[in-house]
Amino acid sequence: MTDLATTISALQLKNPTMLASGIMDEDVGSMQRMIDCGAGAIVTKSIGLHPREGYLNPTVIELEYGILNAMGLPNPGIDIYGKEIKALEKTKIPIIGSIFAANAKDFVTLAIKMQHFGANAVELNVSCPHAKHYGLEVGSDASLLREIISSIKHQIHIPVFVKISPNIMNLVEVAQNIKNAQADAIVAINTVKGMKIDLETGQPILANKTGGYSGKAIKPIGIRCVYDIAQNVDIPIIGVGGITTGEDAIEYFMAGASAVQIGSAIYYRGPEVFKHICKEIDLWLRKHNYKNLYELIGAAYL
Ligand SMILES: Cc1cc2nc3c(=O)[nH]c(=O)nc-3n(C[C@H](O)[C@H](O)[C@H](O)COP(=O)(O)O)c2cc1C
Repeated sequence: MTDLATTISALQLKNPTMLASGIMDEDVGSMQRMIDCGAGAIVTKSIGLHPREGYLNPTVIELEYGILNAMGLPNPGIDIYGKEIKALEKTKIPIIGSIFAANAKDFVTLAIKMQHFGANAVELNVSCPHAKHYGLEVGSDASLLREIISSIKHQIHIPVFVKISPNIMNLVEVAQNIKNAQADAIVAINTVKGMKIDLETGQPILANKTGGYSGKAIKPIGIRCVYDIAQNVDIPIIGVGGITTGEDAIEYFMAGASAVQIGSAIYYRGPEVFKHICKEIDLWLRKHNYKNLYELIGAAYL
């Protein structure tokens, strides 16, 4: 077996496959299952300060080439969800707490609490395409984003990752802004804003009308974002979007990612997808005479 270990800032991962935020991470049971299925790190669902119901159904639609969702960031609030993270304190793999808020003060409170509950890093969700006041609006405001990142960096010692959206025109500028504010890594990408209309009713199917598109169809978008950031900004990148096979992950490493996150593929291939993808990465690396992952990262632009 090839050495699949990788590093993101201070985090050591035994393998580069991480669970993406929002899929199979609602409680300790589902997260433990993903760990048992071989995930190299876990990202929690995005958690806010207070409990939030989320949107009415339908919230998820499976389409031919991907999945459209508008969950509306449902979560029990940090104080209740913290217990799920605490219950994972003996696990040997990194647990990354995903958080969302509308301002720096609430983000700082959430980050401090995540650290207190045992998270090994925080991931700032500033890129949800369907949550008013929380997602994309925060991530598109350069000065607010800088304020959020630097305020958090002053208050916690664990690494800070920032998850960005493909739904922006000035991707490299935003990535540079994130680096300048001293974030430790960029996670690219969140879902792509989309919509599905029911031909019989003539109405959008999702209760929220628009949602975020994920899965196989968005891989070229994610690859392009990772490549553009890697070429222009010196910061570790975690690639996410449409990764279903080991070869998809290899493409992200070549584009410049040091690790990958997997979400929708759990619907396609089941939780064992982490083990399958690691096996497929290993096979590919051996077949192409690579000794480890590091030799591959950024191959597309170096
Ligand atoms: C049902 C569902 C819920 C999601 N919830 C979140 C979330 O709470 N926070 C977040 O940052 N991303 C969320 N995402 C986005 C994923 O983490 C990921 O960025 C996106 O799905 C692309 O990866 P994939 O193609 O492997 O699914 C969600 C995605 C899906 C499909």
